[in-house]
Amino acid sequence: MPTPAKSNKPAYKIAPSILSADFARLGEEVKNVIAAGADWIHFDVMDNHYVPNLTFGPMICSALKPHAVTASGQPVPIDVHLMVQPVDALAAAFADAGADYISFHPDASGHVHRSVQAIKSKGCKAGLVFNPAASMDVLDWVIDDIDLILIMSVNPGFGGQSFIDSALRKIENARKRIDASGKDIRLEVDGGIKTDNIARVAAAGADAFVAGSAIFGKPDYKSVIDAMRVELAK
Ligand code: DX5
Ligand code: ZN
Repeated sequence: MPTPAKSNKPAYKIAPSILSADFARLGEEVKNVIAAGADWIHFDVMDNHYVPNLTFGPMICSALKPHAVTASGQPVPIDVHLMVQPVDALAAAFADAGADYISFHPDASGHVHRSVQAIKSKGCKAGLVFNPAASMDVLDWVIDDIDLILIMSVNPGFGGQSFIDSALRKIENARKRIDASGKDIRLEVDGGIKTDNIARVAAAGADAFVAGSAIFGKPDYKSVIDAMRVELAK
């Protein structure tokens, strides 16, 4: 029997958050972190209303889009994490700006199902984000409609915070829900991810990992991403 072609697509996705990049050189930072092995570019949108910080909008996303490619010209998905309220108008603007994944916090939307459909109608993948103390009950009603669940392992708003351990139980709970749904849904974790805890987070059921300060805080991005992959392979 012929052996099925082996996919070289990594099962685990590492998504560096450019929140911790050098904002004066964002295009270069995106290129460098892709050259270092990033699978996705995580783009943290903060509005100084839903969270107490203010970052960047759709114009920066469209400016970075041409830089989000590998050396061989393969597009690298832009993973937009909206920490904004309301959701829908900005989600649409990010879809137009080239986002691939758009995730939002359900407590920031008056009509979660409508926001999910609005994202999908633009051809983007839709995700729901859960804060450390947020219930995931809404998944009972929309899991069939989404492509990604993002578990916050810090309170949203800032990079460089410590991982909150209760997120591990939440990841396990989300993994059970995904497996029960039978759907192809990514389970991403965001906040305090480092080389020394990524394996535990994967063991709990996550398959995509946001890392900001762990990667951009070091001079050699590739050595951090490589070390994370070594941990994930264990
Ligand atoms: C926090 C952001 C995170 C942040 C993670 O609100 O959603 O993506 O950049 O940063 P680290 O990896 O430094 O905890
Ligand atoms: Zn994020």
